[in-house]
Amino acid sequence: MWFDSHCHLDFAAFDDDREQVIARAREQGVTAMLSLGVDVASSEANVALAAAHQGVYAGVGVHPNDAARVWQGEATLQTLRRLAAHPRVVAIGEIGLDYYRDATPPAQQRHVLQRQLELAADLGLPVSLHNREATADLLAILTDWVAGLRGEAHSLAARPGVWHAFGGTLDEGQRAIALGFKLGIGGPLTFKNAEARRRVVAALPLEAFVLETDAPFLTPHPHRGQRNEPAYVRLIAAKIAELHGRPLAAVAATTTENARQIFRGRDNV
Ligand code: NI
Repeated sequence: MWFDSHCHLDFAAFDDDREQVIARAREQGVTAMLSLGVDVASSEANVALAAAHQGVYAGVGVHPNDAARVWQGEATLQTLRRLAAHPRVVAIGEIGLDYYRDATPPAQQRHVLQRQLELAADLGLPVSLHNREATADLLAILTDWVAGLRGEAHSLAARPGVWHAFGGTLDEGQRAIALGFKLGIGGPLTFKNAEARRRVVAALPLEAFVLETDAPFLTPHPHRGQRNEPAYVRLIAAKIAELHGRPLAAVAATTTENARQIFRGRDNV
C-alpha cells in the first residue's frame, strides 16, 4: 500500500482523464493521495475531488507564487477555514516560500505563510511546505512556529507537517526532522544528475521520509518528460529501497505509516 503525500489532481493536466488517473493509482496500490491546493479555487476543487473519491484527501492553502494574485487577508483565511471544515481535508497546503520566482514579494510571502501557519495551528491541521531558495528563512519561521506549538503542548507539535520536495543538505534535513517534520521525497531522486540528493537520502533514516509524486510535475525516471501521476510513486520508493538496501515492502510500509502519522485526519487516512 502506497501513500502519495503530495499531488495536484485538480490541475488542468488531468482534465481529460482524471478518473482514469485515480483508478490507475488505486490499481497500483496507492490507497491514499493527498491533493494540495495552490489558491482558493484550487483548494475548493481538491475538496470536491476528495469528497467524491475514496482514497483522495485534500489540502487547502495559498502557494507563495499565487499569493500576490489571490491573497485577500481575513477574507481568504475565512474561506480556507470554511473549506478545511470538510472531514477529508487533512492538511493546510501547499504553503511556503519561493524566492526563486518573484511573482509575490518575499515580505508578502512570509506574511501569508505566517497567517496560514496560525490557521493550521488553530485547526490542528499539519502543513505541506514548499521551499525554493528560501531555506534559511523557512527554517527560522518553522523553528519559531514549532517552539510555540511545543510551548503550549499542542498536538501538532508531534506532527507539524511535511517539507515537500525536499532537496536540501543533510544538515538542513536533520534540522527539519528535529522540528518534527517529515521530508517529502519525489521524482528528482531518480534523475541522472541527482547524486547529491541521493547521498542525503541514503544518510537519513526511512522514518524521516514520506513519498510524493507532485503530479503532474517532477515525473520520475523512466517517464521523465511525460506527465506525472500518483501511480508512479513506487518508482521513487524503488530508488529509496536501493539506496537503503531494504526491500520495497519495507519502504512502502514505513513511508505509508509516516504519512499516516502526519496526516491522520478526521476520516482515518
Ligand atoms: Ni506541489
